[in-house]
Amino acid sequence: MREAIERVLISEEELEAAVAKIGRQISEDYRGKDPIFVGVLKGCFIFMADLMRHVDIDCSMDFMAVSSYSGTTSTGAVKINKDLSEIIEGRHLILVEDILDSGVTLNYLKNYLMVRKPASIAVATLMDKPARRKADIYADYSCFEIPDAFVVGYGLDYNERYRNLPYIGVLKPEIYS
Ligand code: IMP
Ligand code: MG
Repeated sequence: MREAIERVLISEEELEAAVAKIGRQISEDYRGKDPIFVGVLKGCFIFMADLMRHVDIDCSMDFMAVSSYSGTTSTGAVKINKDLSEIIEGRHLILVEDILDSGVTLNYLKNYLMVRKPASIAVATLMDKPARRKADIYADYSCFEIPDAFVVGYGLDYNERYRNLPYIGVLKPEIYS
């Protein structure tokens, strides 16, 4: 598994520190607001699990599953594979994403959820690749801004592999070419 990684982009220690910082910031911003954290599966699962342990306010959690990617390039299509189970009308939503790339997925999700009249929608992402943005969307909370490289680990996959790496690594180009 590790032989597929060209280099470590974000170490376990850097992940831990940045995620803790965002958790504390969200706790301050949302104190008394009882937000719902909405994890976007599958990529969010490790980030969200770590993030939530640094959020010390009353809140709830829910998950959605969407698919938009096959391999390393966007198909542009967003499919909802699992919808929310909570009612979100009047609630403060925080969408938790692994990575904001073209922004197509999150833009679609935001519009899709807006119809249900939440009090607010914010975006918390582990990584942001601003160079690749197509949709007009930004992260309210972002742990790392990264260059345009395909990364895996800490929840992120390439064809469902490498999600279990404890760090963020850059995949060797020969793996996906
Ligand atoms: P977007 O719609 O282009 O912003 O794509 C968002 C989704 O694409 C993310 O939630 C990831 O699942 C996937 N994705 C984008 N860039 C990467 C990457 O570098 N590694 C792994 N998955 C990625
Ligand atoms: Mg994802």
